[in-house]
Amino acid sequence: MADLSVNLAGIKSPNPFWLASGPPSNSARQANRAFEAGWGGIVWKTISNDAIVNTSSRYASLNLGTLRMAGLNNIELTTDRSPETNFREIAEIKRRWPDRAMVVSLMVDTRECWHEFVKRAIDAGADGIECNFGCPHGMCERGMGAAVGQQPAVTEKIVTWVMEVATIPVIVKLTPNITDITYAARAARQGGANAISLINTIKSITQVNLDCLVPEPNVGGLSTHGGYCGPAVKPIALHMVQCCAADPEVGLPISGIGGIANWRDAAEFIALGATSVQVCTAIMHYGFRIVEDMIDGLSGYLDAKGFKNLAGLRGKAVPMVQKWESLDLNYKRIARINYDKCIGCNLCYIACEDGAHQSIDLVPPNGQGLGPGRVPGKPIPKIREEDCVGCNLCAIVCPVESCVTMVSIPTGKPKLTWKEYQEKLARGEIKPIPAHP
Ligand SMILES: Cc1cc2nc3c(=O)[nH]c(=O)nc-3n(C[C@H](O)[C@H](O)[C@H](O)COP(=O)(O)O)c2cc1C
Repeated sequence: MADLSVNLAGIKSPNPFWLASGPPSNSARQANRAFEAGWGGIVWKTISNDAIVNTSSRYASLNLGTLRMAGLNNIELTTDRSPETNFREIAEIKRRWPDRAMVVSLMVDTRECWHEFVKRAIDAGADGIECNFGCPHGMCERGMGAAVGQQPAVTEKIVTWVMEVATIPVIVKLTPNITDITYAARAARQGGANAISLINTIKSITQVNLDCLVPEPNVGGLSTHGGYCGPAVKPIALHMVQCCAADPEVGLPISGIGGIANWRDAAEFIALGATSVQVCTAIMHYGFRIVEDMIDGLSGYLDAKGFKNLAGLRGKAVPMVQKWESLDLNYKRIARINYDKCIGCNLCYIACEDGAHQSIDLVPPNGQGLGPGRVPGKPIPKIREEDCVGCNLCAIVCPVESCVTMVSIPTGKPKLTWKEYQEKLARGEIKPIPAHP
C-alpha cells in the first residue's frame, strides 16, 4: 500500500486530507469526530481578537438540476466562540490526537495582537499557524481578511510580524479575489512564510429571490456579497494552485483548497503541486465520513500508478501547463461517435450546428447500430471528419459516457508552435495556414 503521509513545511499528518477552516472545524466535538473518521489534520475555524457576531441566515446555494450545492455562498465571519474556549479545546484535541496535524487559523489586527495570538496557538500545542488573509466579507471592512491578502505589501508586512514570534510553521492562506495570485504568494514568501494555502472563497452573489427581490442569504430584507466555494470553484482553485506551483519566485509548499469532494479532486490538486488538501463544503454537504473513500481511492490510485508515496504524484502535471503560444498548432483531434451507445438525443448535432463549427450532419441511419432508447429510422449524427476542428464540445454535451470520444489524428506534420509559425512565416519558409472557410 502506498504511503499517504505528508510533511508540509514541517507539519506532519498521516494522510493529506485536512479539514479546511470553517464550520466543520469549529469545536472539539467536531474535531474528535473528524479524526475518528480518519482525517489527517485540521485547520481550526479562524480565531480573531475582534468580538464576532454572525448573522442569522448565512448561506446560499447554487443548485444545478438535481445537484444541490454545486456552489455554496456564505457570509459567515470568524468563529463566534471565545479565543479562550477555542485554545482550550485545541490543546485537548492535540493531546488526544498527537499524530494528526493541528493548524490554528488566525485573523487579528495589530502587531501586538498577532504576537499574542501566535504565542497562544503555540502554547496550545499547535503544529502550525494559518494566517487567514482571505475572508472576502465582513472582516475586510475591519482591515483584515481579503483586505490584507489583496495588497501584497500588507501581506508581506503582516507575515513578518507573525514570523517575529512564530516557532512553528506558518501557512499564509491566500484570497482568490485578486488579479494574479502569484503576487500575493510571492509577498508571503518575502515575509518569511513557510507555506501557502489556497483558495479562500470567491466574492459572489448566488441568487436573487424573484418574489421579494432580495438576494440570498436574506438577513431581514438585505443581503451582502458572500464567499463562494464548493465544486463550482475547483477549476479556479486548480488554476491558481498551478500558477503558484510553477512560479519559481513563490517556491513554497502548498495546501490546496477549493471544491475538493473526493479522491480524484485531491489527486488533481496534488498533481498540480499541492502537498496537503483541505475540504470544507463537501463535509458540510456529506459529513466527515467522506474521508474513508478519499483515503481508499487515493491509496488505490497511487498503487495502480506505481507511486510508492505522494511525492511520486506531487507536481507531475505542473509542467504540462504552458503558455498558449507553446501549444502545437499542427496537432489534430476529431470526434468519433459510438453508435452502439448513441441514444439519438442529437444534442451533439445541435451543439455543433448552433454553438460551434457546423461539422456534424444528420443522416439516415441506414441500419447503423441502435443504442438504447433510439427511435428506429430517426436520423443519426455523423461527424464530417474533414471539417471537425476537435473543439470537444460534442463530447462535452453528450449525456452518455464514452459515446462521443475525441481521437488524435496523425497529420504527418512536425510540431509547430505559434512562435515558430510566426518566425517561419517571416522567413518565408511556410505558407500561412488558411483561414477557416
Ligand atoms: C461557511 C463557511 C465558513 C468559512 N469560514 C472560514 C474561516 O473562518 N476561515 C477561513 O480561512 N476560511 C473559511 N472558509 C473557507 C474555507 O476554508 C475554504 O477555503 C473554502 O470554502 C473553499 O473550500 P471548499 O470548496 O472545500 O469549501 C469558510 C467557508 C465556508 C463555506
